[in-house]
Amino acid sequence: MTRKKEDFGEIIKKDHAERKNLTWSGSFLEYLELVREKPEIYALAHRHMYDLISEAGIIPADEVDGSARSLKLWGDTPPKVYKFFNDEFFGVETALEKIVRYFHAAAMKGEESRQVLYLMGPVGAGKSSISEHLKRKLTEAPPIYVIDGCPIREEPLHLIPRPLREKFNEMLDIQIEGELCPVCRYRLEHEFEGKYERFPVTTTTFSRMHRRGIAVVPPVDPNNQDTSVLIGSEDISKLDQYSEGDPRVLDLNGAFNAGNRGIVEFIEVFKNETEYLHSIITATQEKFVPAPGRHGTIYVDSVILAHSNEAEWRRFKADHTNEAILDRIVTVKVPYNLRLNEEVKIYQKMLSRSGFKSHIAPHTLEVAAMFAVMSRLEKSPKCDVVTKMRLYNGEDVVEKGRTKKIDIQELKEDATNEGMSGISPRFIMKAIDTALTDNPDGITLFTFVMS
Ligand SMILES: Nc1ncnc2c1ncn2[C@@H]1O[C@H](COP(=O)(O)OP(=O)(O)OP(=O)(O)O)[C@@H](O)[C@H]1O
Ligand SMILES: [Mg+2]
Repeated sequence: MTRKKEDFGEIIKKDHAERKNLTWSGSFLEYLELVREKPEIYALAHRHMYDLISEAGIIPADEVDGSARSLKLWGDTPPKVYKFFNDEFFGVETALEKIVRYFHAAAMKGEESRQVLYLMGPVGAGKSSISEHLKRKLTEAPPIYVIDGCPIREEPLHLIPRPLREKFNEMLDIQIEGELCPVCRYRLEHEFEGKYERFPVTTTTFSRMHRRGIAVVPPVDPNNQDTSVLIGSEDISKLDQYSEGDPRVLDLNGAFNAGNRGIVEFIEVFKNETEYLHSIITATQEKFVPAPGRHGTIYVDSVILAHSNEAEWRRFKADHTNEAILDRIVTVKVPYNLRLNEEVKIYQKMLSRSGFKSHIAPHTLEVAAMFAVMSRLEKSPKCDVVTKMRLYNGEDVVEKGRTKKIDIQELKEDATNEGMSGISPRFIMKAIDTALTDNPDGITLFTFVMS
């Protein structure tokens, strides 16, 4: 079959036109009219993320793969299956549902909007992939409105002075939150003589590369837990050019500045010193971070996402002095998938993204998946591990001519830590990759096991 040749030029032209359509520039006064027309433009970070998730939709119950909906597996409360996550994640509906619940509550401005979303699970269970996915979806989202030239791309409605807020909230039917950053405050006074209606507003997209609305913080060296990683610094080269207290010296490139309006992700968060964690928690709770030097505070609004494995979580939790921090964290367990069919889908996804194109004989992946899933199951007095695996997969297990009647909900309740240890998909994939490298013509179950 020959592929239809598409014209690169045409595709690029269309792309430019579409992007142009989405961009907007105008004065703050014009922006106010836009918000009046479409108040949903004003969305804090959690609301924005929740809107992206819910706009993608939920897969109707009758279209969901049998095992994901099966009455046997879930009883009367099958999890919702979100399209937003559906092509990427398999067998972890419960964890994803909890994540969505967090965003929902936070979007409604519940306490969750001031709490860290923390993903905890064993190695290779998909924690990083979930946060990558959230970040990628942000970069694909339509642009948001920002104050033109603001170093932290802040919400233009911050320009409305305090005494007018009440009135504007009423007129626009929204609840405006936040304060103007020191840089925009300075510009308002010096460039626009306080005439905020003239301040330029524009649109911008999220970008991980450019750290626009997306910031990632790896564990910081314990000997050098400099807060400038979080809140930025003063540009020393400008200090002799501007007077003290002039916000033009500010270099607002800390994680909270960069991730404003979007996501700030903390990798292996509990590897940081407790002092450092306190700064993270304060920022999350107060939604203000100190500006470097003597420049007051800066309002920030982002989803704070952290992850690490269970061992670190337990170590951290064991220390009572950490209680205040624990109280400000929403923990979502991300265990390994426990359903055979879904495990095969994980490998297929990973294979489709690799360069390996050789043939894999039928059942090879299934056997690998059985091995992985069984390693994750806890022993039960009610049945053996193979039976449990098949029951979890939504299968009927027939013994001596009769279908076994075991309540899966009960099995699950007996095994509270199930899926938190065992063999990871990454481990299996490495074995498959080795087998494929050794057998470029393709692998069979036999060659795979022998590799
Ligand atoms: N339930 C799942 N559905 C789809 N893919 C999965 C699932 N679990 C793991 N994977 C895949 O396994 C690989 C490893 O996952 P990832 O790196 O996100 O794990 P992690 O939890 O961050 O591990 P670590 O603790 O080692 O950092 C990724 O390619 C991921 O997509
Ligand atoms: Mg990871």
